[in-house]
Amino acid sequence: MARPRVVVTGRIPEAGLACLREFGDLWAWDGDGPVPTDLRDEQLAAADAVVTLLTDRVDDDFLAAAPQVKIVANVAVGYNNIDVAACERRGIVVTNTPDVLTDATADLAMALILMVTRRLGEGERLVRSGEPWEWDMFMMLGAGIQGRRLGIVGMGAIGQALAARAKAFGMTIAYHNRSRVDGETERRLGARHKPFDELLASSDVVSINCPYTPATHHLIDVEALGVMKPTAYIVNTARGPIVDEAALVDALRSGTIAGAGLDVFEHEPQVHPGLLDLDNAVLVPHLGSATVETRGAMAVLAARNVVEVLTGRQPITPVPPESDPADRRSGTD
Ligand code: DGY
Repeated sequence: MARPRVVVTGRIPEAGLACLREFGDLWAWDGDGPVPTDLRDEQLAAADAVVTLLTDRVDDDFLAAAPQVKIVANVAVGYNNIDVAACERRGIVVTNTPDVLTDATADLAMALILMVTRRLGEGERLVRSGEPWEWDMFMMLGAGIQGRRLGIVGMGAIGQALAARAKAFGMTIAYHNRSRVDGETERRLGARHKPFDELLASSDVVSINCPYTPATHHLIDVEALGVMKPTAYIVNTARGPIVDEAALVDALRSGTIAGAGLDVFEHEPQVHPGLLDLDNAVLVPHLGSATVETRGAMAVLAARNVVEVLTGRQPITPVPPESDPADRRSGTD
């Protein structure tokens, strides 16, 4: 019997490739940058499965080139890059990689909270600039976080893991989520559920940890920023377009809020030029899950999903069906 044919659209860790190689005939793009569309489509023509990255747009055009594909295995927890309804119409299973990246992403969110409140980006730039400096009692004073409130927007696995970290740093935790988390989790994290506006108005740091869906596009807009305290900070490790980046630049410039720590950008990899000039913005290039261990685990999970589906079993981590909006989690929660 012919071995199943698996296409991987970009570079992923060897552990995932090894698993796929053992199982089927593998073609994996290994070049710099995105795979040229012609070459990708040529490979997709005979593919039974495709492993995708968050930089791939899996839409009708993509799927039309892949008539035999039975599974799209995205190597990311967020899957806003995939048209799930279009996959459903073709009977294609979609999977993502939740859980294995929870700790790494929560670590990065905590790191951004510390960086922006303690002005570490500014400090680093000063030392590297070669400008003379000397210890001074009032140099680069930041904001302490002990006893301050962290407001988490999206209390899924990553939001909860961030809450545990922030609690250990002495912060108090409030959150807003579509539905309240269970009482035991609230007690363990000391987390209080708040209406969205109340959360924004009362938090010293707001962290975005919700999925990106049409409903969360520009959730943080000029009005939302206007509700926040002038001393408050915002951190985004979810998806860029949840925040209106132009409105954020204005808010950071005018002192509507105190600072921002961003791992994701509205038009990634482009960054709003206004952000680049602002000392109160810490900017990192989508590193949430970027540890050797986590990226390896993501690749293996995606590969295992392929093996399960192509051998007629249930996928390990299917995304919820588009036809069941109550269960949608289309992103990094
Ligand atoms: C994800 O998995 O969605 C992350 O953004 C990748 O780091």
